[in-house]
Amino acid sequence: MTKYISLLILIFGAFNVAFTQDVELNINSRANDTLSFDPSLEPFYHGVASGDPLSDAVIIWTRVTPTQDETIAVDWQMATDTAFANIIANGTFMTDESRDYTVKMDVTGLDAATTYYYRFSALGKTSIAGRTRTAPSGNSEHLKFAIASCNNYQSGYFSAFGHLAKRNDIDAVLHLGDFIYEYQTGGYGYTEEVGRGHQPDHEILELSDYRIRYSYYRLDAHLRRAMQQHPFILIWDDHEIANDAWVNGANNHTPNEGDYSNRKSAAVQAFFEWIPIRDNATQTVYRNFSYGDMADVIMLDTRHEARSIQVDSFDAPNINDPDRYLLGPTQMQWFKDGLSNSTAQWKVVGNQVVFAELLLEGAGDPLGLEARNLFLDTWFGYPAKRDEIVNHISSNNIDNVLFMTGDVHISLAFDITSTPADSTLYNPDTGMGSVAVECATCSISSDNYDENFGSEIIANFIRDLFGGANPHNKHIETTKHGYVILDLTTTKAQMDFYYLDDGMRVPNSAESFGVGLYTNHNENYLNPATSPAPPKAIQEIPAPDPTADVMIPVVSPDDDILVLSVYPNPYHDRVTLHYALARTQDIQISLYNVSGQLIKNLYNDRQIAGNYDLRFTAAGLPSGIYFLHLNTKEGSVVRKLLKE
Ligand SMILES: [Fe+2]
Repeated sequence: MTKYISLLILIFGAFNVAFTQDVELNINSRANDTLSFDPSLEPFYHGVASGDPLSDAVIIWTRVTPTQDETIAVDWQMATDTAFANIIANGTFMTDESRDYTVKMDVTGLDAATTYYYRFSALGKTSIAGRTRTAPSGNSEHLKFAIASCNNYQSGYFSAFGHLAKRNDIDAVLHLGDFIYEYQTGGYGYTEEVGRGHQPDHEILELSDYRIRYSYYRLDAHLRRAMQQHPFILIWDDHEIANDAWVNGANNHTPNEGDYSNRKSAAVQAFFEWIPIRDNATQTVYRNFSYGDMADVIMLDTRHEARSIQVDSFDAPNINDPDRYLLGPTQMQWFKDGLSNSTAQWKVVGNQVVFAELLLEGAGDPLGLEARNLFLDTWFGYPAKRDEIVNHISSNNIDNVLFMTGDVHISLAFDITSTPADSTLYNPDTGMGSVAVECATCSISSDNYDENFGSEIIANFIRDLFGGANPHNKHIETTKHGYVILDLTTTKAQMDFYYLDDGMRVPNSAESFGVGLYTNHNENYLNPATSPAPPKAIQEIPAPDPTADVMIPVVSPDDDILVLSVYPNPYHDRVTLHYALARTQDIQISLYNVSGQLIKNLYNDRQIAGNYDLRFTAAGLPSGIYFLHLNTKEGSVVRKLLKE
């Protein structure tokens, strides 16, 4: 066989002269990782999702993995029951390579405060059903939102999402960003102990990179189940593009990584393809949602819309410059109007970075860190804009503002006051002087300070830093992972922190209630709760999950290899083949021309079950049709490839 292949390579040497030899195969370290794909979900391997609920509409989402590059008609149905006996809307959505075979449908004409079930069909198969829920209009007695942020696949398991999926009284999950992380395998958060490498193997820069990263994350069973069972309202933070991003750049974007605007537009495109967010002409993500008389949910973009570059020192002369933006003038006015004009009881603000005034003077400094310079990426680094908002809330006597925050990877809760150090203007015992409250959720699975620095010293330092000098700090926990449940009634708003018992680095950790805090209607300051807020009176029926009890999917020879994507197609010079093996086996990957002649053997070896991408450069081939053959002992998959 080898001899035969060599002969063919000799015969078609003309192609090989033009065919660059830098075939690169990325193999992840996968010691404990069970991510591959579940053949029973064909061709909807990424599950289903919904988002951006209104009182009469909601976005439903899926991705169909094609067996060849073609436009695919995907039928959808929405019903009021899990058996789909009462279908109230249906239609067909056309998808293709231009949107990475994702499907996003804005289903309208729905009833308010109603739970619906939806599903898709294509290529002769039907997806699992998803559950979603519209927002109320008018009165409602009880709302519950989950607050989540920062799911770094490399850092640990998404067990917290698995627990969220099992809840049956959540109106929506407010996800505050860092839905993906942009780093290379082995970069930020990776540990040998967990062994959750991801794909692509390198730092993501181009459209195909971002698409593959989303695809990889969305194959995770815990995340898939959470998005199947609840509508998500998502905003991005920095890692959806690159660490510590601002409007025209990012700390983790260097000149040798190309033009930042190209990277940003690729990241934005992939976000809108893979996230169940409502499309808009400018693809902005700050937006608001009415939950009737009970709540307005105002989601901010402090990151990519207009943020000025971070200063590198708290002593920077321009730190208080009123022209340094976090929201930008347009969004700032929209936000202030949204607060002023709201007639809802609670104003829930979805916000990426810590908002509260931080008093960091005089804190200990055991590691030689300048504490004040650790938080310049938050509102702390844009004090004029933070003060402008606090003053707007205060001077307009706007009550019941609840800031929900992500990004910080520790649990925090604050009274919001512009004068936390002045005991004549703010009393931490009575709440006098507090104008709003803030709750920052810990991460789903992104390193805490102790995990990031490999030492508890800095975790203790951070705890002392916030807890010691900040009288308005009402909760700090620096070592756990999980999420928050925000419970709203007409009398109070309660924020309950739920934590993984065994952390994020073991699969399927149990969870427990950690701490609860609440603010009473119109009181605008936090009190400790003695127990979690009670469940809703009505528990909704979950969407059936046929994979729930399946730890290892049953694999037949026919479906043990899956091509998830070929990017781009047509291609010009480089090709990325993203595929997965459901079990360990020998695999040969080869490129043929339209006449059936072998152009090149790209790979021929044994691979363990898992997800892979294979990249090769084939710029010199003549324009035309080619075929990628993926052969195993049991069968083969062929994908057409077009050279421009
Ligand atoms: Fe994060």
